[in-house]
Amino acid sequence: MLLRILGTAAGGGLPQWNCACPGCAGARRHPSRRRLHDGLAFHGTGTGAWFLVNATPDVAQQLESHADLRPGAGRDRTPVVRVVLTDAELDHTLGLLRLREAARIEVWCTQPVHKALTTRLPLTDVLSPYTELTWHDLPLTDAGPPVRLAGLEVSAVPLSDKRPRYAADEPAHPAWSTALKVRDPSTGTSALYAPALAGWSDHFGAAIARTDCVLLDGTFFDEEEPRRTGISQRTASEMGHLPIAGPEGTAERLRRLGAQVYYTHLNNTNPLVDPGAPQHEQLGGRGLRVAEERMVVSL
Ligand code: MLT
Ligand code: MN
Ligand code: ZN
Repeated sequence: MLLRILGTAAGGGLPQWNCACPGCAGARRHPSRRRLHDGLAFHGTGTGAWFLVNATPDVAQQLESHADLRPGAGRDRTPVVRVVLTDAELDHTLGLLRLREAARIEVWCTQPVHKALTTRLPLTDVLSPYTELTWHDLPLTDAGPPVRLAGLEVSAVPLSDKRPRYAADEPAHPAWSTALKVRDPSTGTSALYAPALAGWSDHFGAAIARTDCVLLDGTFFDEEEPRRTGISQRTASEMGHLPIAGPEGTAERLRRLGAQVYYTHLNNTNPLVDPGAPQHEQLGGRGLRVAEERMVVSL
């Protein structure tokens, strides 16, 4: 399979339109530091077929800037777009509105995400005059067979009951926020995408241990970053994102695993958005890396 990185920034992007913090100012001075909202496209082995993971506010630009995702191959338009969602967060779903020129949008998501996106953010009602929006159940890993998309097996590992702020009063459910598992049956290789890791469960640890490539929540470098930079009164973990560094951070836990790991969903406050930041050395020493924009991983 081919995994195409469409963006690597947390909500707001880099630079964020209303922010002049060092990370955002640096990205304005050095365009190579710019990052679009985190999202992926997967291609099955030996096929032109692909599907998106999450539909970000940057989705049209993301599709346009990858030749393999543009319309073509004998068609005037891309008739159907397939999107798998890890959660119902705005940075992962607003792009569905942007895709309304498609004849059909097919979406796979978990049950609480479907409820949020049809009631609290009424996408079916809003989009029905424009396109045909079809919802499908995204199966939970180990709870049934995965769904087959573009020749790949796709399922969701439940991570937490972290709800989007617009649906904060909805009931708790373990599949509000998930990691997406994608396995290529033709090679036996697999990838895991977890842009919001609120806690490290044994279940997640076991899923990661069986995976060849992990794209992991790299929103905040350390636990105090959101409070220190003034963007929130809460710590990184309280915001639903385990930090990279520190005793409870993901870097320490990942040291014991053999998978290729790339951090993604970087917030503009994360010092790693500056390629010269000394914090990069703390990653390199452990075999961990920051995902690059437009990176392609072949598994
Ligand atoms: C998150 O990743 O925690 C959310 O996307 C934050 C947001 O609402 O922008
Ligand atoms: Mn986010
Ligand atoms: Zn900023």
